[in-house]
Amino acid sequence: MRPRVLRSAAEAAAAAAAKRRALPVNPTTTTTTRSIAAMYASPSSSSSSKSIRFSGGEFVRSRKANSKRLPRYAAALTAARFSARGTTIEEDEEKEEQMKHLRIDQKGIVSDAGVYTTKEEKMFLKNAIQLKGGKNAFILGIETSCDDTACAIVTKSGHVVSEAIKSQVSIHENWGGVVPTLAKEAHQNAIDDVVEECLRKAGVTDIGKQVSAVAVTVGPGLSMCLRVGVRKAQKISGEYGIPIVPVHHMEAHCLVARVKEEEWNANSEEEEEENGGVAKFPFVALLVSGGHNVLLKVEGVGRYTILGQTLDDAIGEAYDKTARLLGLPVGGGGGPALEKLAKEYEEIVLEPRREQCRKETEQEAHITDEVFEKIVRKKVKNPIRFTVPLRKRKTCDFSFAGLKTNVRLAIEKHLGAVVDESKPEQKVLPSENWDGIENRETRAAIAHAFQTAAVTHLEDRVSRALEWVESDGVSPTCLVVAGGVASNQKIRKKLLQIGANHSIDVVFPKPSWCTDNGVMVAWAGIERLNLALGVEKPVPRNSEAFAKDEKDRDVQVRLKPRWPLGEMDERAIGEVKSSKVSKMARPLGSSD
Ligand code: KG4
Ligand code: ZN
Repeated sequence: MRPRVLRSAAEAAAAAAAKRRALPVNPTTTTTTRSIAAMYASPSSSSSSKSIRFSGGEFVRSRKANSKRLPRYAAALTAARFSARGTTIEEDEEKEEQMKHLRIDQKGIVSDAGVYTTKEEKMFLKNAIQLKGGKNAFILGIETSCDDTACAIVTKSGHVVSEAIKSQVSIHENWGGVVPTLAKEAHQNAIDDVVEECLRKAGVTDIGKQVSAVAVTVGPGLSMCLRVGVRKAQKISGEYGIPIVPVHHMEAHCLVARVKEEEWNANSEEEEEENGGVAKFPFVALLVSGGHNVLLKVEGVGRYTILGQTLDDAIGEAYDKTARLLGLPVGGGGGPALEKLAKEYEEIVLEPRREQCRKETEQEAHITDEVFEKIVRKKVKNPIRFTVPLRKRKTCDFSFAGLKTNVRLAIEKHLGAVVDESKPEQKVLPSENWDGIENRETRAAIAHAFQTAAVTHLEDRVSRALEWVESDGVSPTCLVVAGGVASNQKIRKKLLQIGANHSIDVVFPKPSWCTDNGVMVAWAGIERLNLALGVEKPVPRNSEAFAKDEKDRDVQVRLKPRWPLGEMDERAIGEVKSSKVSKMARPLGSSD
């Protein structure tokens, strides 16, 4: 999942009307935005933004990187393996007893069938899985929380047998954001085929005999989208009598770093090295995408502490908005285009000056990198620099809204373009006719300034998170970085450096498992099955959930669209209040 920007009812209606008139709507011409990251917030620390609901559903911005190339400018440019628990049910129970407070909602999330709770029930579950292949047993994972209909079959030992995904990028592209009603429809149209494809690829001919459990994302996410996946899981569960494992979307993003990426052929040994190994507990996770921006302490399955999260936009959202303001192609995400433009600035403007400075400062061995970079900047005419957010706030929270304002002001000052305050995200610069190399260079300077501040902000927060965790007496084995933004080369390089400073590995799950996918859900289900944590008994065949005629308001489908992953770390300020606090589910793992 990871929806992000919601729009008000009025805006949605206006957009819908414009769409009917066949005019492409720029989704960014909205006045009220809210980071869905608030969905992941703990009750005490959620976004203060207004809750936005309207009859047609909610609007959230779309994701997925755009691969279109930028026009080049002038002559200057021509140049997890699963660490086998191997524990018995008794041992698992003992462990579970020790972490009672972390227990998932025991009342059942998906249906009224109930959770495997007693020792006998858990033994029954274990034996049932053993009969279906033990470590080779197939677990089916289903993900429909936002705009990807995804499915995978993973064995209990972590071998990925098959994957299938249907993206909705082309559906939402013209709207510039995910339209929940369209997303729901697309999930409904795709879900059967996607699951079917996955089963076929895995050679499953008899689900009842070959599949041991269905894991499904129940939250957080868009409820009308989540519902499609949960209904599918219920039908399979009811029809074939197999258990359901309700999965938290963010938990799945974190835990997928523990799957061994056997099938991923890294291009070189170096790349393999760079992408890290399998994450062992405890670790620190940074989730960065269009909708996620959170730092977590992960001590085990169900043992998560939120160290920091965004107070406004997620970083991917900030990249997308900045790219749009700079007239870059955004498609399903402006991050790659912005990164490319910032790189141009590095190569064309900064690198030659660095070369010059290296010669000039050759004798001054004492110069630090930071000082050196300052000297380089002094050689640039009209340098553009943005303040790194929240430097005075010694927390692990994030904020990217201020950077967006900086970009707007810089565009007005250096490029003379007027940004309409009431339409803060409109595209003010044309993507064609770059109007001369100087302007292009200025845009590149703005892109570079944005990226430098944004990345430094991430570095600050990740360093502090590692310090916090270490000062708790916990030695993290690694830093896991997941989400679409994790593909940014600059970010990777800087975070690898931070890992090195702390003598820990940095694990980047393979790109297709960083964005939403079925493997992460199946795997999170397996991790929960191994501990018999929150696993639900098969949906009864006579239940409403199993009924063929799908109803929108199916009482049997219990979803957790707003579901914090864990408690906030006590050092996190969490001062942002949400009007939706009371509607949030208890944190995953909290006891009654
Ligand atoms: O994880 P993802 O595919 O979907 C969401 O959960 O949102 O992430 C998409 C986000 C977009 O905001 C996109 O602009 C950003 O990731 N992104 C990047 C890069 N590649 C994708 N941001 C910065 N640099 C990149 N190279
Ligand atoms: Zn996600």
